[in-house]
Amino acid sequence: MTDKLWGGRFDEDITQDVLDYTLTVDVDVRLVFADLWQDIAHVLMLGAGGIVPGEVARALLGSLLQLWEQNERGELRLRPELEDVHFNIEQMVIEELGREIGGHLQTARSRNDQVSTDTRMYLRRVQLDAVAANLDLIGVLLAFPEEELLAILPGYTHSQAAQPISVAFWKTAHASMLLRDVRRLRDAFGRTDESPLGACALAGTSFPLDRELTARLLGFGRVLSHALDATSARDYLIESAAAFAIGGNTLSRMAEEVVMWSGHEYSLVEVSDAYATGSSIMPQKKNPVVAELARGRAGRTAGTLVQLLTMAKGVTLGYSCDLQEDKPYLWHAIDAYLSTLRITAGQTRGLRFDSARGEELCWDNFSTATELANHLVAERGLAFREAHHVSGALVSALLKRGATLRDTAAGAEILAGLGHPVAEPVLARIFAPRNAVAGYVSPGGTSPASVGAVRDELNEAVAGHAAWLDETRRRIGDAQAAAFDAAREVAGGADLGKALDRILPTLNGGLS
Ligand code: ARG
Repeated sequence: MTDKLWGGRFDEDITQDVLDYTLTVDVDVRLVFADLWQDIAHVLMLGAGGIVPGEVARALLGSLLQLWEQNERGELRLRPELEDVHFNIEQMVIEELGREIGGHLQTARSRNDQVSTDTRMYLRRVQLDAVAANLDLIGVLLAFPEEELLAILPGYTHSQAAQPISVAFWKTAHASMLLRDVRRLRDAFGRTDESPLGACALAGTSFPLDRELTARLLGFGRVLSHALDATSARDYLIESAAAFAIGGNTLSRMAEEVVMWSGHEYSLVEVSDAYATGSSIMPQKKNPVVAELARGRAGRTAGTLVQLLTMAKGVTLGYSCDLQEDKPYLWHAIDAYLSTLRITAGQTRGLRFDSARGEELCWDNFSTATELANHLVAERGLAFREAHHVSGALVSALLKRGATLRDTAAGAEILAGLGHPVAEPVLARIFAPRNAVAGYVSPGGTSPASVGAVRDELNEAVAGHAAWLDETRRRIGDAQAAAFDAAREVAGGADLGKALDRILPTLNGGLS
């Protein structure tokens, strides 16, 4: 027999190499809070159901609360030789209370339901943090000053100047995309927020568990009933990784625009000095390194999604150790995503757009050629295809002369030659980028009125998500406070049944 917690049927211990290869304490550090909270909920349930004697439950709770305090003080250390967080905590309890009492902790539970419960508890916290960070960034984008409603940027298609847009239009576009990332995170939260606890190893147990009680004590929205599914499922985590990967891509695309547009050739935007660094050799450089890293870091979130899909695809139902590979990369993805969200909010706050430059690029690159076609349709009754042709012929002729739409004298002359005379001042009005932006009044368009309406819609959505976030965080926080209150009362000598009866009305009773 070895002295491992599982050592009964073993004559020999694992080698150091095997321990190093299998251990996961460095990853599990993030799960300590969840594991202890879960232990407390589990013991309250075992005590309430008479599955362990009242005095045993009291002693276990006392020991677990001490470990909680120790962890809060930053003094709880996981020992690598004990493999993972679950064995570490069980061993700590046994060391304090002895095997006769401490050894009751793992009654009617397995590390298989335990690890998924911990991971879901940590992940839902991350999902909520990600929703909050997205809402902050969206708030920054939507707080644009009024003058940005008519601050001009070239809008691009195929990386070619296409039509003028406003800075506010660009900001609200990213806010609109980010709001979908929020909805994806909320969807993933919905399927993460289910309690696998009580599934045990894979098949349930002969003990009369109250799975609804533990789910409520852990602040879960519902119980994930089927024991084999509950211990095997990793789709909640892959789905979260997908939400992080897609969110990482959203941020990366925005970062790409900032990088490109802050380059000398565009000079459309400048990042504040605090978000750029210089070169060791070239004194003139101001490199937008934060945006570059945000773009590059999307590789981590995308990579994690692929890693998880690949890791899980061949795992038959029931726990296999492959599934232990679900956490390390996910942690990297979480760190990459959250840090990028937060730094992007700071960077965005300090972006300075050069709208005179934006207007210049629009003029120089024929961005308002469509406006002439629209004018010929609206004022002269031409079919759009016909009008498109006239405007295209004008562009072609101007290009041959080395001129642009600014040259209204040349423009008027060419158009007269084409049989569609338009007076010079009219041309100047038609081609002015600001007029084009002001005129795009269709719903969702770039005009100030349309952007204002979209901003109102987006702000309303933000308020709805913020209310949901507060309520959800409160629900989880209340459950934690109640579970710990009951545990402290029982550890201090109170009757377990009475302590639970007192807190139960404060817990989410409407598990779906
Ligand atoms: N450390 C494991 C993990 O992270 C926990 C469950 C292990 N279960 C087992 N039977 N080996 O997934």
